[in-house]
This record gives sequence, C-alpha cells and structure tokens, in this order.
Amino acid sequence: MTKLSPAHPWHAHGTAASALVAAATGTPTPRTPVWFMRQAGRSLPEYRRVREGTTMLDSCLRPDLAAEITCQPVRRHGVDAGVFFSDIVVPMRLAGIGVEIVPGTGPVVEHPIRTEADIAALEATSADDYEAALAPIREAVTLTVAELAATPLVGFCGAPFTVASYLLEGGPSREYLHTKAMMYSRPDLWQRLASWVADRSGRFLRAQVLAGASAVQLFDSWAGGLSLEDYLGFVKPHSKAVFDHVADLPVPRIHFGVNTSELLVAMREAGATVMGVDHRLPLDVANARLGGNTPLQGNLDPALLFSSAEARRAGIETVLRRGAKAPGHIFNLGHGVPPSTDPAVLTEVVAMVHA
Ligand code: CP3
Repeated sequence: MTKLSPAHPWHAHGTAASALVAAATGTPTPRTPVWFMRQAGRSLPEYRRVREGTTMLDSCLRPDLAAEITCQPVRRHGVDAGVFFSDIVVPMRLAGIGVEIVPGTGPVVEHPIRTEADIAALEATSADDYEAALAPIREAVTLTVAELAATPLVGFCGAPFTVASYLLEGGPSREYLHTKAMMYSRPDLWQRLASWVADRSGRFLRAQVLAGASAVQLFDSWAGGLSLEDYLGFVKPHSKAVFDHVADLPVPRIHFGVNTSELLVAMREAGATVMGVDHRLPLDVANARLGGNTPLQGNLDPALLFSSAEARRAGIETVLRRGAKAPGHIFNLGHGVPPSTDPAVLTEVVAMVHA
C-alpha cells in the first residue's frame, strides 16, 4: 500500500472516517451517505451562471471554475461527497485529441480513431507530456478539497470501453457498430486502442487521488451494450488496467455501468471494491448476485425526481430497505441527475435519506 501524504484530506481532514468511506468499506454508519451522479451541472442555476460563455471542456480545465462547480451541489444539498467536475473525455483532450462536448448531444470527436495509423499516432504521444498536461486537474482537485475539508471528494474517469466507443464512433452511439466491428475483425487494434485509453484514463484517475480525492468511480456507462463473453474478452482486462493505477492506494474503488445487471460480477472482477447499480436491478438482488460481500451504491430511478413526493418517498424507503441487505450502502440515483431536475427535490431527497 502506498501512503497518501499527511496533507491529503484522508489524514488532514479525516475523510478516511467519513460516512462515504465507511459505507464503502462495510463499516456501520449512523446514517446512509448520499451523493448524486451528475449532481454538478445544469440542474443548478449557480452552475448555469458560472458556466456562461465558457465551453464545457474549457470549464473543466480552468481550476478555479472546476473547483467552484464541484463545491456548488455540496453547499446546496448537503450531500456526503463531492464528485470532481470533469468529463470522461477530458483525458483524451489532454492527450491531444480534438474533442468537444456539444450541448444536448455529448462528446463529439473531430477525427474518429479508426485505422492502425490513427492508433499508432496515439501510441507515439508522450506519457511525460501527458503527465505535465494533468497540472490543471491536480490544481483543481487541490482547490476543491481545501473547501470540502471533511467532505470526501470522489474522483472519476471513464472506462476504456465507454471512452473508446466515443473515439471510434465519433460521438454518442446506440449500436457501437464501429467499436464492435473493430473488436471482431481487428481484435489486435481494439486491444491496442483500449490499452492506450486505459493508460491515459488511469493516470488521470491517479492524479486526482494523489491531489486529494478520497474515493474513485470508474464509469463504464455503455458496457451494457456488450454480451458477458465480449465483456470478459475485450473489456474487463482494460478496466482492470485502469483500476490498477490506483490499486496501491487506500481509497475505495466504485464501478458503475448502465444496463449492466448481467455483468455485475464480471465488473467487480475488474478490481472494484464497491459496485454501482442502476435502477433496473433491486439492490437486494444485486447483493445476492455478488455473494453478499460487496458494498453497493445506488439506485433510485431518476424518473422519481419528477414524480409525486409520496411516490418518491416510497421509492427512497425501498432503496434504503434493499440496500441495508448489503455489507455497506451509499445512496445514489440509478444514473445521472437529469438537467431539468428541480434542485429543491434533490435537497429534499438528501434530507429524507439522512432522516
Ligand atoms: O457527476 C458529476 O456531477 C461530475 C461530472 C461529470 C460530468 N460528466 C460532467 C458533465 C461526470 C462524472 C461525467 C461523466 C460522463 N460524461 C459519462 C459517464 C457517466 C454517465 O452519465 O453515464 C459520460 C457517458 C459522459 C459523456 C457526456 N458528457 C455526455 C453524454 C454528456 C451530456 C451531453 C448533454 O448536453 O446532454 C456530457 C456533458 C457533460 N458532462 C455535462 C456535464 C455537467 C453537461 C455539460 C453542459 O452543462 O452543457
């Protein structure tokens, strides 16, 4: 185990004993910790205000702005963790790839990566230059944890399948046709691309932890588009490579995907210590599938943020009751906060979970 520095919030602010880290390690907590995927973002008027006139990726690379946006939902909702304001394609931008986030669409890649020459060009980029390019990330995390103090920061990155699928498709996709075509017809090229993405994402993740994050989450949002067999052969080794970048550090490792009920056990084998579960699979069922030994995160259906207060309360109680079967439970949504969510509803959910 590599020790975090004495100045790291793990030691300096006691985040090692926070409710989030306790639940993530199966230690009983007086109340269930709660945070929300995509808690920072368009649901907050203060976010829309500070983002005005700055593109999404430029905001991610401005340390003062990234720190401010990360802290906004913590101040407003009283959640038990901040999640670093960034994006799964930020490491790709820092590695020199032309990528933008188009509002309402998502990441769009200027020149999709599809040939052996494209991949060779990525492999030829310098890892040392990349480490230097991570400076604004380290600075943003340092500023963030100075404000968050005893509230832990969750660092994150995208898993190689989800990130590589953006690079190959050029943008969001439902079918992953270019990605799967490469896997099946040129598995050698797929393995090279996924390894390169894993290296750059893994370094991005490690930089966040060393600068102050107290937990990490690996998002493989689109892995649910894969069969178990393809996941095991083409994806798991690369997700494991990402987790290996932080496996010597004491922080919990959360792994999350959408529609991944059939992949839950395989995803844990990639090196997770906590499994994120979407709203399609009840937490008690997830717990049984995992053998009853893995703390869980999830999984209120985000649609309940738009329902009656009674339906929402019943949904929260069900999630808490089912989550209590697992060795530890971190309350979250089954996927990200929809941009049109009323922020007052999120504040109310936090209060209900804590009560
Ligand atoms: O959770 C958080 O609050 C932390 C920030 C975060 C963002 N992206 C900020 C963001 C995180 C953890 C992500 C991860 C991410 N990005 C994933 C994995 C998680 C998931 O939702 O499944 C994926 C697939 C992406 C790619 C991406 N980036 C998409 C699909 C979009 C939405 C495009 C849109 O406008 O609807 C983005 C943009 C993005 N990332 C926004 C934010 C706050 C919205 C940007 C804006 O304000 O216009």
